[in-house]
Amino acid sequence: MSKPKYIVSLFIILSSIFILSVYGHADEGKKIGNSCVNCHSKLPNSSFVGLKSHDWKGSIHQKQGVTCDKCHGGNPAAADEKEAHAGVLSSSNPQSRVYYKNIPSTCGRCHGAEFYKFTQSYHFKKLEATGRGPNCVTCHGSMVTSVLNPDDIANVCVRCHNERIGVFPYIPQKAKAVLLLLRESKALFLADKKIYHPAKGTPNAFYLQQAQSSLHSAKLEWHKFDLDTIVEYLQDLDSSLKKLSGDNRRP
Ligand code: HEC
Ligand code: HEC
Ligand code: HEC
Ligand code: HEC
Ligand code: HEC
Repeated sequence: MSKPKYIVSLFIILSSIFILSVYGHADEGKKIGNSCVNCHSKLPNSSFVGLKSHDWKGSIHQKQGVTCDKCHGGNPAAADEKEAHAGVLSSSNPQSRVYYKNIPSTCGRCHGAEFYKFTQSYHFKKLEATGRGPNCVTCHGSMVTSVLNPDDIANVCVRCHNERIGVFPYIPQKAKAVLLLLRESKALFLADKKIYHPAKGTPNAFYLQQAQSSLHSAKLEWHKFDLDTIVEYLQDLDSSLKKLSGDNRRP
């Protein structure tokens, strides 16, 4: 009779230790975590605000610790909603860091090279003057930081570049073709990088390095919308890859 009782009370003691330790950890997490992420991750997926936070989850920004406050401002150390939101403005407010016109410079604090190229484009001047035209989130999404696929890119450009408005109506199809080429070239480069492991200082190491640098330049040039220059860089990339080991695998 006394043995089972003893076991039951031991079980109760053990499980309360377990429960205490779980609560202890949760408390610790609240203290050291980011209040924006903590609170927003509990908001329902069905609300607009909740949906936005869920977009951020799994993004490269989440993995790199680029939390909500880095783009929206506010105080990530405050657990209280009002205190945390001090300085957080809706994207429709012209003073907001995520207002349409302010987005490039908000992203540009960390992505200076892309931002600089973008400021050299006609579209940037247009964005400054009228608040219209593509900006960073048009192609990357505000939090997911993916890149639009070629069909979607064409759909973005066709809003202004079409027969009816008459401003360079060929651009959507050209942008689509160039993005396809960029993707294929990137895949080819990554495949070759896996196959070849050239020793330092050899010609192959040089060609691989050249190819990587052409790819980098092509990506950057996107941000100036200079489609012809992108194609030139991709041609350079192709010829560097062809020189790899000199075996002319591709025609
Ligand atoms: C304790 C919970 C809580 C905390 C902490 C919190 N938020 Fe919120 N946030 C909410 C809720 C709830 C809403 C939606 C209701 C509303 O509009 O106030 C919201 C709305 C927002 C919006 C939309 C604002 C708008 O006007 O459209 C943004 C942006 C935002 N939060 C960013 C942040 C950032 C950045 C932080 C951290 C610095 C943060 N939040 C901290 C609960 C929180
Ligand atoms: C890399 C920058 C970046 C990060 C990180 C980021 N956001 Fe955003 N967020 C934006 C931009 C830009 C917009 C507005 C553009 C748009 O409409 O897509 C936006 C829009 C929103 C909106 C819609 C309300 C509004 O004002 O338009 C909410 C809510 C929001 N973000 C919450 C969050 C929360 C919560 C986090 C963290 C879990 C977060 N964001 C992380 C850039 C960011
Ligand atoms: C606080 C700094 C910070 C801000 C602000 C920021 N990012 Fe990032 N972003 C990063 C980091 C760190 C990475 C990880 C890759 C890297 O090191 O470049 C990244 C990655 C990316 C990538 C993917 C690059 C890849 O290699 O796959 C894109 C696209 C991107 N960000 C776009 C944006 C856009 C658009 C905005 C503005 C809405 C923005 N970022 C704002 C820091 C930031
Ligand atoms: C017209 C569409 C478009 C716009 C607008 C745009 N980007 Fe990009 N971005 C791209 C494409 C395409 C790539 C290359 C993606 C790939 O590697 O497949 C890219 C790549 C990037 C990368 C990753 C670079 C790397 O080395 O992998 C970052 C970071 C980035 N963009 C930031 C920005 C920022 C910041 C802005 C605004 C100033 C912006 N982008 C505006 C299309 C765009
Ligand atoms: C909101 C409208 C708008 C959108 C969306 C738009 N553009 Fe434009 N774009 C313009 C206008 C206006 C011009 C200038 C026409 C002129 O010079 O008369 C222009 C000019 C250009 C030029 C020539 C610029 C130069 O340096 O001479 C290119 C290339 C271009 N756009 C590419 C694109 C691409 C690619 C997209 C899609 C990612 C796009 N545009 C989306 C409005 C837009």
